[in-house]
Amino acid sequence: MYVPKNVYTNKDLMKYMDTSDEWIQERTGIKERRFAERNGETTTTMGVEAAKIAIERAGITPQEIDFIVFATLSPDYYFPGCGVLVQRAMKMNEIGALDVRNQCSGFIYALSVADQFIRTGTYKNILVIGSEKHSFGLDLSTRGRNISVIFGDGAGAVVLQPTSKGNGILSTHLHSDGNSAETLAMYNPGTHANHWTDTKLADFNDAELADMFMSHDMVEKGQNFPYMDGQAVFKKAILTFPEVIMEPLSANGYQPKDLSMLIPHQANLRISQFVQQKMGLRDEQVYNNIHRYGNTTAASVPIALCEAWEEGKIKENDIVCLAAFGSGFTWASALIKW
Ligand code: ACO
Repeated sequence: MYVPKNVYTNKDLMKYMDTSDEWIQERTGIKERRFAERNGETTTTMGVEAAKIAIERAGITPQEIDFIVFATLSPDYYFPGCGVLVQRAMKMNEIGALDVRNQCSGFIYALSVADQFIRTGTYKNILVIGSEKHSFGLDLSTRGRNISVIFGDGAGAVVLQPTSKGNGILSTHLHSDGNSAETLAMYNPGTHANHWTDTKLADFNDAELADMFMSHDMVEKGQNFPYMDGQAVFKKAILTFPEVIMEPLSANGYQPKDLSMLIPHQANLRISQFVQQKMGLRDEQVYNNIHRYGNTTAASVPIALCEAWEEGKIKENDIVCLAAFGSGFTWASALIKW
């Protein structure tokens, strides 16, 4: 994992918007988050820093990686994706590089893609990265406070390899419900042309051709920032998390009590606590670090996985569940015998 060195406490955010430490902690559990160097770090460079550690720990070199899967919602460029920038930055061979656009569940979706390539024997060393530079795209004024206090920057990475010992990824489970696509989204820039909702999501200009992607009106009205109906997200998250955690447990003949560690997407501490209580899990079965990093979207699961492992909380043969829910809505889980 890699997180930028700049720590922003809740108090620091009070310089930019009308908020308070109590409000943020009480509603989300977040105490501080990291924000990348504005001009020195990108989503890709942070991903590369995490990847260097993962590759070193796997005991291989970047040139031995044979496929890259990169999950992010805050790419360096609208296109091409971050995967090719990693390939270039790490001087890798001309291997395949795939970007995954599944927001909070992006890392687990990325892992499931990598898992299929490993199972079929197509590739032997797959680099899976989740990375976000949210700080570049948040409305840090009072107008955007319900969203901007939640998110932070960072990256996590793993190298996935085949194993013959019976451990590894036991199964992955992916879901989506596009009916709520607009509930948590960044609409612009996009080609939606206000097609999908009765509400106008963007003020496009009137040109007959071209120049539609971004307009001055959009920027002036703050339509280029993310939108979230927090309560709708919360309600759906607490329903889907327990289901998507039970799914791999049942599929592999386990029960919640068999779980050594649940690594939930760090969306909001209240969501994790609700899920823990609903599933009857003990404190030591659930890993939370949102108080230190906020919600880092595609990076949150690999960052939490890395910290749990470094703290000795995940050992060989442990049953570990990764689970996430977020924008789309999409949700996903992976069960791992470590
Ligand atoms: N500081 C102070 N006050 C604020 C802030 C802030 N940062 N943000 C909103 N408020 C105010 C609102 O203006 C509102 O004031 P009003 O009552 O005078 O109108 C009041 O606080 C309550 O606002 P709500 O939006 O209703 O607050 P709510 O209790 O729903 O909490 C929150 C908001 C924390 C976003 C909550 O809905 C939530 O946790 N939702 C889940 C969303 C989530 O976890 N998203 C993460 C990203 S998605 C994912 O990763 C799954």
